[in-house]
Amino acid sequence: MAFTVAIDGPAAAGKGTLSRALAERFGFAHLDTGLLYRAVGARAAEGEDPIAAARGLLPADLARADLRTLAAGQAASRVAAIPEVRAALVDFQRRFARQPGGAVLDGRDIGTVICPEAEVKLFVTASAEVRAHRRWLEVGGDAAQVLDEVRERDARDMNRADAPLRPAADAVLIDTSTLSIADAVAQAADLVQRRIG
Ligand code: DC
Repeated sequence: MAFTVAIDGPAAAGKGTLSRALAERFGFAHLDTGLLYRAVGARAAEGEDPIAAARGLLPADLARADLRTLAAGQAASRVAAIPEVRAALVDFQRRFARQPGGAVLDGRDIGTVICPEAEVKLFVTASAEVRAHRRWLEVGGDAAQVLDEVRERDARDMNRADAPLRPAADAVLIDTSTLSIADAVAQAADLVQRRIG
């Protein structure tokens, strides 16, 4: 049985933690779609044409050790604004989403573009300050610069012409600014359970 949970939201809102927890609880496969864009961004940073990189993306690209840095996030956000890069990644994501046994995908356009038919759609967000603080705890460095980078990436992801970051009309909003991760997981798991019936 195919069952898709679509989780969208800005950087460091808690999408990854929530997705992994839901996937584990319900036995669903999980795809962090940001990794696809990070891998394309990393190959582009090495001089490759981003469209060619997206069309030729290999599983080994997703296992690179350098995809979690702030620089990799910015490179991903830049290549993600190129329509041909996005188009090259659609089929893989849709196939993943409809695999038997269920899937959780997290990203920016899962509920709006990749899986508008997803059984459960969540939009996970938090204030820019809270998200920047979380990112800073992970990566360290200058806190003000981390906040600037979060805001810059939000603006680029929300204002691009193709598949901008925004909640689907029927997405349930979860704000993790003040909610603990345990409460966010409980809320989301309850929605999935009710939809499964
Ligand atoms: O979720 P993340 O921080 O790993 O994503 C990195 C960048 O990739 C993000 O700034 C925008 C882009 N992205 C996207 O455009 N669409 C997705 N479904 C996932 C990520």
